[in-house]
Amino acid sequence: MSSTHSAGASPEPARFRELLPVPGRTDVDLAEAYAYPPSPDRPWVRANMVASADGGAIGPSGRSRDLSSAPDRRVMGVLRGLCDVVVVGAATARKEGYRPVRPREVWSDLRAGRPATPRIAVVSRSLDVDEELLTTAPEDARTIVFTVADAPAERRAFVAEHADLVVVDGVSVGPEHIVNALSEKGLYRVLTEGGPHLLAEFVGAGLLDELCLTVSPHLLGAGSPRIVTGGPGTPGAPEHSSAMSTPVRMAHLLEAEGNLFTRYLRE
Ligand SMILES: NC(=O)c1ccc[n+]([C@@H]2O[C@H](COP(=O)([O-])OP(=O)(O)OC[C@H]3O[C@@H](n4cnc5c(N)ncnc54)[C@H](OP(=O)(O)O)[C@@H]3O)[C@@H](O)[C@H]2O)c1
Repeated sequence: MSSTHSAGASPEPARFRELLPVPGRTDVDLAEAYAYPPSPDRPWVRANMVASADGGAIGPSGRSRDLSSAPDRRVMGVLRGLCDVVVVGAATARKEGYRPVRPREVWSDLRAGRPATPRIAVVSRSLDVDEELLTTAPEDARTIVFTVADAPAERRAFVAEHADLVVVDGVSVGPEHIVNALSEKGLYRVLTEGGPHLLAEFVGAGLLDELCLTVSPHLLGAGSPRIVTGGPGTPGAPEHSSAMSTPVRMAHLLEAEGNLFTRYLRE
């Protein structure tokens, strides 16, 4: 499986300790801890991101792998197993080498009655999307590509041949277009893996229900963007202030190998 937080297997399964809401529990069932709301009747949008202790989202490699760890990959695997679709910005798909998700045996219970793997949905104006991501997905988990009407015509034809292409009028694919189209396809358990530009659009539109954030024990210093970037609140904007503040509550806080795993739900 391609991975935002990078791939790799841990020799020993990581042990997760619950700090909140039940301090001290060590028998945390991750699938239970991260379960989507039962029988959702609308798409539920969860983001999974990793940040350094000082708030950076991209490490020296230009990717998030510098921040990842075996426990982070384990959570990421569970979140992918739970979801119907992984939504990702095209820059992340390119940078992190996204491919169709590979099935995992441990998902058989999590995915009972659903395709063996979640679909990948890429958002792109340029349609510069890796061909393998389009052509090698299984038929029941075809890749979805969201784009705009003036995307390059020849790329559009290729994408439409091999994947489910959703074309939106206007200059931008709004998060509401994504959520509506996924809803029409019956894909209600949504996981977005960023990147920071796409995530900022979901947050700005008020369409992020949940943020799963790994705080990784690293300092990245200045220069690394936050997990949301672009638009108001970034340097260059008046007084660097944010245009919004949405309250969230912490659903749980777990710890493993010095990483903190937070799960925030929108109030
Ligand atoms: N720390 C973490 O958890 C984490 C998670 C994910 C990614 N990352 C890192 O973040 C970096 C990439 O993130 P990013 O913020 O630069 O980019 P991104 O959000 O992944 O992707 C931006 C691209 O998505 C497309 N896009 C976004 N919004 C769109 C819209 N409204 N309409 C149409 N297309 C739209 C455009 O694609 P086109 O250019 O194709 O037109 C745009 O260039 C990488 O370095 C990656 O490693 C970190």
